[in-house]
Amino acid sequence: MSVFVDVSKTKQFLEDGEWDTRRQQAAELCHALYTMEDSQHVLGWRTPEHSVLQLEEIDAKAEEIRRDAEVFVIVGVGGSNQAARAVIEAMPERRGPKIVYLGNTLSPHYIRMALAELEGKSVYIDVIAKNFETLEPGSHFRILRQWMGRRYTREEMARRIIVTGTAGSRLEEIAEENGYLFLQFPASVGGRYSAFTPVGLFPLAAAGINAEVYLEGMAEAMEDCISHPEANPAVDYAAARSLLYGRGYDIEMMVSFEPRYAFFEKWWIQLFGESEGKEKKGIFPAASIYSEELHSIGQYMQDGRRNLIETFVSVIRPGAEAVIEPCPEFGDCFDYLDGMDFDEINKAAEAATWEAHTAGGVPCIRFTVEEISEKSFGQLFYYLMTACAISGQLIGVNPFDQEGVEEYKRNMFAALGKGCFTNKSRRP
Ligand code: PA5
Repeated sequence: MSVFVDVSKTKQFLEDGEWDTRRQQAAELCHALYTMEDSQHVLGWRTPEHSVLQLEEIDAKAEEIRRDAEVFVIVGVGGSNQAARAVIEAMPERRGPKIVYLGNTLSPHYIRMALAELEGKSVYIDVIAKNFETLEPGSHFRILRQWMGRRYTREEMARRIIVTGTAGSRLEEIAEENGYLFLQFPASVGGRYSAFTPVGLFPLAAAGINAEVYLEGMAEAMEDCISHPEANPAVDYAAARSLLYGRGYDIEMMVSFEPRYAFFEKWWIQLFGESEGKEKKGIFPAASIYSEELHSIGQYMQDGRRNLIETFVSVIRPGAEAVIEPCPEFGDCFDYLDGMDFDEINKAAEAATWEAHTAGGVPCIRFTVEEISEKSFGQLFYYLMTACAISGQLIGVNPFDQEGVEEYKRNMFAALGKGCFTNKSRRP
């Protein structure tokens, strides 16, 4: 296994015996998760048979995209694009087309700039929208189709447009009417749990990420959760954070000294924020990249209100070297760094921060990852999705619904005059 979790620094904030009892509860929930029937149709992500679908079609189309595309546009919002983006942004050495993200904003400036990136390039797009009702991906698909329609024939567009949605949705009908490749968004998997479905797998493969190794990582973590419900990173993490929540620690800051994790942190915010924040309950998820934000957020972490949990994501092997060569004649007063690799400096800063924050009264948790790779992403995503399912239940909410996000949509759709039909069969 290349992902480990350390929750030992949370125990000083707990009463004697609390940890053992809660960990036992978390272990029972973990076991139940893998043995219960999916009566609510929300657990399709647990095992590959419901989620990892259409691998041959995915491989073939992804190979074509890596060969023929200069730009690949990933259209999706929230859970429908975060997992793929987290991995793609963390692995800049990948060999594949330039990636443009659309369907995730309503900013006209962003949309214009994104379209400008496509000009004169060979473009493929993947539109990911579970029920094809979300405004951002739906409206951007319209704009992109029109843009492509002015540059490509109908046949060429059919080759270049891929859509990912649930069976029976209007998106599937559109795919059939126009000859687009249709990939399945399993109905029993919510967007934020979709990392191992075609929602995450296809964009990763098209971007030049090794999806096979990523799935191996997932399989290892899944095996660990199924075979060792009594102790695995998901159970330990869920038990620790839910106990802290009960003691008034209601904000969790995920931090990393590796900026390649910036979009991974966004994925984690999506997963935990949408899964736990309901019924006036839940830990508020926030994130920071150190050492940059030690110069801002670091102050609050050290000295601010004591309601914060800090969850570090540490990387053992950074995958690159950057050594500071001596330069005595320059006289810049940084000679104490002579000959050091930035990895050593970064790790010294991390150790110093961990020590200062734990001593300053912040309960700290640490995930350690051997290296940033397809495999460790597969493991991290899987452990954290399992942890979220367990932790949500420990906190007393349903981690699979998201009624709250409908509130603003009702107002927005009323303001925009949205009609009542969303698929062909319901058209007037
Ligand atoms: O996790 C979720 O359910 C959400 O974050 C969705 O992924 C997001 O709202 C996008 O939904 P859709 O794919 O239906 O456009």
